[in-house]
Order: sequence, then structure tokens, then C-alpha cells
Amino acid sequence: MSDKNKISEDITHLRDQLNHHSYQYYVLDDPEIPDVQYDRLYRELQSLEAQYPDLITNDSPTQRVGDKPLDGFSQVKHEIPMLSLDNVFNEEELSDFNKRLQQRLDNDDEIIFAAEPKLDGLAVSLLYEKGLLVRAGTRGDGSTGENITQNIRTIHSIPLKLLGKNIPDVLEVRGEVFMPKAGFEKLNQIARDNDEKQFVNPRNAAAGSLRQLDPKITAKRPLAMYCYAVGRVDGGAELSTHSEMLDHLKQWGLPLCNEREVVKGVQGCLNYFKKMSALRGSLPYEIDGIVYKVNSIKLQKELGFVAKAPRWAIAHKFPAQEEITRVNSIEFQVGRTGAITPVARLEPVFVGGVTVSNATLHNMDEVNRKDVRQGDQVIIRRAGDVIPEVVRVVPGSRKHHAKKVQLPDSCPVCGSEIEQEEGEAIARCSGGLFCAAQRKESIKHFASRKAMDIDGLGDKLVEQLVDGGCIDHVNDLYDLTAEKIVDLERMGKKSAENLIEALQKSKHTSLNRFIYALGIREVGEATALTLANHFTTLDAIKAADEESLQKVEDVGPIVAAHIVRFFKQPHNLEVIEKLLNSGIYWDEIEAVATKEQTLEGKTFVITGTLTEMTRDDAKKALQARGAKVTGSVSKKTNYVVVGDNAGSKAMKAEQLGIEMLDEKALIELLK
Ligand code: IVH
Repeated sequence: MSDKNKISEDITHLRDQLNHHSYQYYVLDDPEIPDVQYDRLYRELQSLEAQYPDLITNDSPTQRVGDKPLDGFSQVKHEIPMLSLDNVFNEEELSDFNKRLQQRLDNDDEIIFAAEPKLDGLAVSLLYEKGLLVRAGTRGDGSTGENITQNIRTIHSIPLKLLGKNIPDVLEVRGEVFMPKAGFEKLNQIARDNDEKQFVNPRNAAAGSLRQLDPKITAKRPLAMYCYAVGRVDGGAELSTHSEMLDHLKQWGLPLCNEREVVKGVQGCLNYFKKMSALRGSLPYEIDGIVYKVNSIKLQKELGFVAKAPRWAIAHKFPAQEEITRVNSIEFQVGRTGAITPVARLEPVFVGGVTVSNATLHNMDEVNRKDVRQGDQVIIRRAGDVIPEVVRVVPGSRKHHAKKVQLPDSCPVCGSEIEQEEGEAIARCSGGLFCAAQRKESIKHFASRKAMDIDGLGDKLVEQLVDGGCIDHVNDLYDLTAEKIVDLERMGKKSAENLIEALQKSKHTSLNRFIYALGIREVGEATALTLANHFTTLDAIKAADEESLQKVEDVGPIVAAHIVRFFKQPHNLEVIEKLLNSGIYWDEIEAVATKEQTLEGKTFVITGTLTEMTRDDAKKALQARGAKVTGSVSKKTNYVVVGDNAGSKAMKAEQLGIEMLDEKALIELLK
């Protein structure tokens, strides 16, 4: 064999390999080799082609991007018109469609349908001659479209050369070019970063990308295609069903949607519709409905066409997810954790299958970015069960006097100060103990095991007590009597008495528990303990300024600011006063504070079950001696206390060579 022939063979072999791996990657979503290896093969081919330019062919994977932009698009004529679909919007209309089919076929048997997602992109025709992609066109008006061959060639999932056997001499494939959601988000992020105009939705982005005269631009856009039909076919085997035909397309290397199914009768269609509606949000691409096609090609032929649509197929559309309406006002809601959320009150509008009159604006950054104002016309989106949101303001709809929205200074529910950290998107109400919006959460936290440990007062009962009007704030808990609560659902005399007793018992607590129970932002158990040990009295903590708070281990400027702000709110102080008046007390701190700090600077992890003490007690005892107790083993851990049935943490400690202590050794250490 001459050298040139050998090179030519190598080149063909490389192209075949690259085509095979593209197919595995793009069509089957099942790559056999890592990307770097693909790149290596690609570069090898590129280098051979650079040495032997006369061996370059149009179907080479290196030839996806042509070199020159076009002056304009030429036309393509669709020998077989590219049809559109009729729509149905509900079960009844679908049923009518099915009846029409049965009548026309004069057969009551249930019809078998091929069901597929209705992809939200644009219809395209690909023409393959002898397995090579020779032309691609848009649908246009159905009979004439634009020649977009050089743009289509840049889409990697579309084969330039078909794979496999029995490929028809002429094969015209039809399908939808679209932009996957992730690619769309990325593209718009880049546009935002460069202060450029963003695309409205993935469909527009796909259309804009395909209509580029310069294929180098199209090549940079994350486009994909799924095939769903054929046009002209010369040669090849006769097929009896639509689904079989799609399977062939897939074998020839063409990209197809994996979600397609064959279903039976109206019920089968509806089940599929329901399933896909639920899946819709998590699909990586946008769909706007389902297409049902009579699966038998013989029956398709029998049914034929009307005007511009086939009689044998129908699109079952999802309810529109976007609508236009007016913003009547913008209000601020306080969530159960105190987060302040701006909400647009809307002129009611039917969208995504329900009537919507409120839409979230998430936070002030979002309000400012979208610049939504009272009176604006806005686009509302409700996708699936996601809370409705304002997508954007309709340009030109603003009244000239409309004012920019401002974050209020005080909580619209309780009047406490609103706090917003530098660089934080979310603003919060600082009246945690008092604010009616937050009261259920604050009471649940107050009663929890590591806080006041009120036995029997779980989340459900807190809801019941608040909803039943028995309590408003945490301090009301200690005014409860068995008589007041005995009539609550699922309560009874015994449980009522038990709860009152548990409340009494909880009054004897510790300063650190009480501090933790107040639910100050970012003051967890550990910080509450260090605060208690450092200041020893509640009055001292209340009086501390940010500077002195920051002297406490683990308290930085943010936590210090939260603490100061919390104790500045008159409402919070009022609640604390009432709690203390109801008889809450704790032992003097000295017992904990005067322990010698023998373990200062050491970090412990406790794992497994201890027998002589609870893990909580062990933790406290270690902390009282200045140690830090954390939840996970790392290089910074000094000791791991290993109880019974210890698992992965003990293993990790062993791997890292960290000293391990059993319970006996721990007790020894604490002595
Ligand atoms: S079949 C002969 N199948 O919907 C039937 N169309 O509203 C031709 N579309 O122009 C279309 N997904 O752009 C078919 N799985 C699918 C589809 C689909 C999206 C588009 C297509 C068509 C439009 C009709």
C-alpha cells in the first residue's frame, strides 16, 4: 500500500472512531471514553488533515464550522410540506380527537399512539444523501424555508454522516432544534456579565442562534436537536410503525428524545401526559405539551391530512406558564424565620392552570435588578408547582410617577428593626421573640430539647396552642393551666397535667440554655455556652457592646451585631422580663466557669454510644475545660472519643492517625 493510501486509511479510521464516540456521547448519552481521549483523537485527525489537505472531506468531524459568514440565506423547498399540529387543551378535547379517529377508521378498538414530548424549539429538516448530510432547512411557511446547512453542521449531536446499515439512499429527517435549559442559563449569564441583551426564553435563543449568518457564532451556542419524523425517504426497509421508524433513526446515529413511549387509548395518553407534567420541571429541556401520533403507518395513511396538519396526530398543550398582568402594589411579608420577602400583589390572572394574584419577588436585590414598580405591567410565570414569580416588566408599561421600591426600616408585622448584612440578599426582622410572624418558630425552638427542654411540647402542639389562641409568645407558655388546654384536640386531662408539670420543671434551667432558647440569629448551643461562661450573668450579656462580645471565642463581628441588635429591641426585652417574672431561674455559673481550662485549644469529636454519660454531658464537660467539640473528623481534630458501635468517624480518625480515647480514658481526662 502506498504511504498516501495508508494515511487515507488512518484518516478514515480516526473519523469513524470520532463519529462513533460522538454518537455514544450525544445520542446515547453513554460516553465510552473520557473527553481528553476524544480531544486527542480529534487533534490527531486535525494534524493529519493539515499535512494532507486534499484528503479533507465535508463529512469530517473537523469540518463542522465553515470559514465564511453568508451574505444571506438561500431558500430550500420542502418537497413534502412540513406540517404543523392541531392542539387540544384538556381531556374532553383529547377524547373528541380519539372519537373522530375511531369514526373515520370505522373501528372501536383502542388506538395505539406514539407519545412524545412536544419540544419547544424550532422545526428543522435534514437531508441525507447516501448517508451524508447535504442540506438543512428551517420549516419556514411549511413549503419553503431557509437554508441553514452550515449552522446545523455546528451542532455536534447531528451526524454529518449516518452510522450503521440499510440507510436509505435519500433520507429526509425532521425534528426540533432547541437550547437545553442549562445552556440557556449560561448564555444569559454571560450576556448579563457583559451588560448585553439577554434572550427571553430558550426557544428564542435557539431561533436567534440558528439564524446567524456567521456559523462561528452558532457554533458557540449550546444547541441540540431531537428528531421526531421523516419526510422524503427513498430506499430502505418498509416500516409498519412510527415508533419503529424512530428506533431506526436512532440506530443511524440521529439524536432522539429518550422520553418517548407507546401508549394505548385515551387513558394511556392521559397517564403519559400526567407523568410528563410531573417530570417537566426536571427535564433538561423545555417542553410545552405532548404529541400523540397514531403509531401504525398504515392507519396514518388511511387518515391523511387536513389543510396544514395531519389527522393522525395532535398536540396536547400544557397550560400557558407565562401571562401578563398588572402590579397593584408591592408589599413585604415576614416569613417564619423573620426573612422579609417583597411580594407583588397582582391583578388576578390565569396562568399555569390556576388563578394567581400574588407573585414573589424573592428579595431586594431581585426587586432592584428587575426594577418592578407599582402599576407596571409584568410577565408572571408559574411553572408546575413552583411559586409564581415576576419574570420581568413589560417595557414601556411604566406610569411616569411610579416610585422605586424601598425596603422598609421596620418590620410590617411587629415594628422591630429590619436588619440586612452587607453582601446578604435577605433582610430580616430582628424581633424574633415577639414578632407574630415568627412566633410559632420561636416557641418551637424555645421548647426544644437543647433549649428549655419542655417535655411533650413538640412542634404539632405548639401549632395547636398558637392556632387555638392559647398562647401568642413564649412567655405565655408559663401562664398556661391544665384547664386552659384540656379541651384541645388529642389532649385530655392527663396530658394537660403532664405538660403543665413539664413547664414547671423547665423553669429550672441554665444560663446557656436560656440564651440559646431566645433564638438569637447565629447563636447556637456552643456560642450560647461560651457567652454564658464568659459573661456569667444575663445582665452582663445584655449590656455587652459589640467590642466586648467579640472578645468571646467564636464570636465575630456578625454574631456580635446580631446579639446587640436582639437586646436592643424593646419587645424582646419585654418578653425576657416576663419569662423571668414567671419564675425561670438558673444556677450560678461559677461551677462551669471556674473549671481549669486544661483542654484549651484542643478539638474533640465524640462518636458512638457512651455508657456512663450521655454524649451531650460529655460534650459539656469537655467544653467546660476549654475544649472545642465538633461534629466531623478532620486534620484539625486532636482526639476522637469512641463509644460503642462507632462507625465511619472512628475509621476516619484511624486513617488520619488521630488519637482515640475510649470512655474510660475520657473520664480519666476529665478528672
Ligand atoms: S410532529 C406531521 N412531534 O410542534 C407532524 N412536532 O405545533 C409534524 N414539535 O412544527 C410535527 N415536538 O416544530 C412533532 N415530538 C414532536 C414535536 C413537534 C415539537 C413542533 C414542531 C411542529 C410544531 C407543531
